[in-house]
Amino acid sequence: MEPAERAALVENALAILRENDRGAYTVPTRGLYPFQWNWDSCLTALGLGHHDEDRAWREIETLFGHQWPDGMVPHIVFHVPDDGYFPGPDVWRTKRPVPTSGITQPAVAGFAVRRLFERARDPAMAAARARPLLAAIDRWHQWFFAHRDPAGEGLVAIIHPWESGRDNSIDWDEALARVPRDGIEPYARRDLQHADAAHRPTDADYDRFVWLLERFRGLGWDNARLHDASPFQVVDPGFNAILIRSCHDLAALAERLGDDELAARNRAFAERGLAALESLWSEAAGQYLACDRTTGRLVESCSIGGLLAAFAPIPARRAEALGRRIAALGERAGHLVPSHDPADARFDARRYWRGPIWLICNYMIADGLAAAGEDVIARRIGADSIDLIGKSGFAEYYDPLTAEPCGGGRFTWTAAMVLEFLKTTGEQPGDRG
Ligand code: DGY
Repeated sequence: MEPAERAALVENALAILRENDRGAYTVPTRGLYPFQWNWDSCLTALGLGHHDEDRAWREIETLFGHQWPDGMVPHIVFHVPDDGYFPGPDVWRTKRPVPTSGITQPAVAGFAVRRLFERARDPAMAAARARPLLAAIDRWHQWFFAHRDPAGEGLVAIIHPWESGRDNSIDWDEALARVPRDGIEPYARRDLQHADAAHRPTDADYDRFVWLLERFRGLGWDNARLHDASPFQVVDPGFNAILIRSCHDLAALAERLGDDELAARNRAFAERGLAALESLWSEAAGQYLACDRTTGRLVESCSIGGLLAAFAPIPARRAEALGRRIAALGERAGHLVPSHDPADARFDARRYWRGPIWLICNYMIADGLAAAGEDVIARRIGADSIDLIGKSGFAEYYDPLTAEPCGGGRFTWTAAMVLEFLKTTGEQPGDRG
């Protein structure tokens, strides 16, 4: 890439981060997502860190300032009122001092904090900022295994599709079909005021999202009860891989900072999780698959969830197989990595998580594959990501067949990931320690 082209991309990405900056946190995009989202913030912090380390740490500190007493870190913090989003705090009714949602999201914080720490230009500041976060993230990890893995399997279940961050993935169709649609309070979607309905989840999906929310609200958001009371319990390889990677990275960071007990606990979570992840491998699919915990069966759905497993330090033969699988997807789609296999009749190129490409997934998959020595495919993913930006700007997600931009525009984490891809282009594979 020409230096001028690269400079323009960086300038555009920074402009988007500035535009969506609300001082101590960043909104994913104006209009569609006007609050702080959990994994958006942690990944955005990596982008912020390139130019302002203090601001990057603050992004994560703000999120953890709203951690629940039981250790959960909610998926949305409603810092300021905004009518443009449904469901708002009046629907969640979680009774937190600053309103939050009542469910969580993929646990990328341990990974993000280690990366910020290791890149820090100011190591003393980084150590001072990392220590309290280390303890808070550890509490969150303990919360996951206590409340989302009650039988001690080593893997956690999501109890609401929103927890995965991949709201309408085909992976959830079967389990979500068991969730009723009736008996919910009347509501009006707001997302369709900001984005094309053909790019968003359907009304039937939304009814079930709301049903689950109301079920958990009816149980007073008591996490000791929610898992068993949920008709939706899915063990997702992507969600677990992110948690495993965060446990692994938190352990490495704790060792650096001299907290051996915390390190040992998180190392054990990661090792147990990695061993259990094997139960989600499908030789026939050539990738990991989700498991429906209520039936005990693997879900026949080849989505990006199974490819995100590459983000965890999985065995080399698995990383190699995922690399091959992604290369095969590249032959079916113009760009990598589609969130669902285009060969599946349920694939929908523009509908949110049923086909489109998301740069955060590209980043995590490429990072894991590079660390496993799968450089060629990791580089292809990076190159495709930058190519999408050149063709279609900083969208929320992209049609993998045509590169068309979808969902919201001027998207924060897309901008952050572009800064990350530009930084890592040509660098050595990431260190897994
Ligand atoms: C939404 O509202 O679309 C979010 O994905 C839920 O967090």
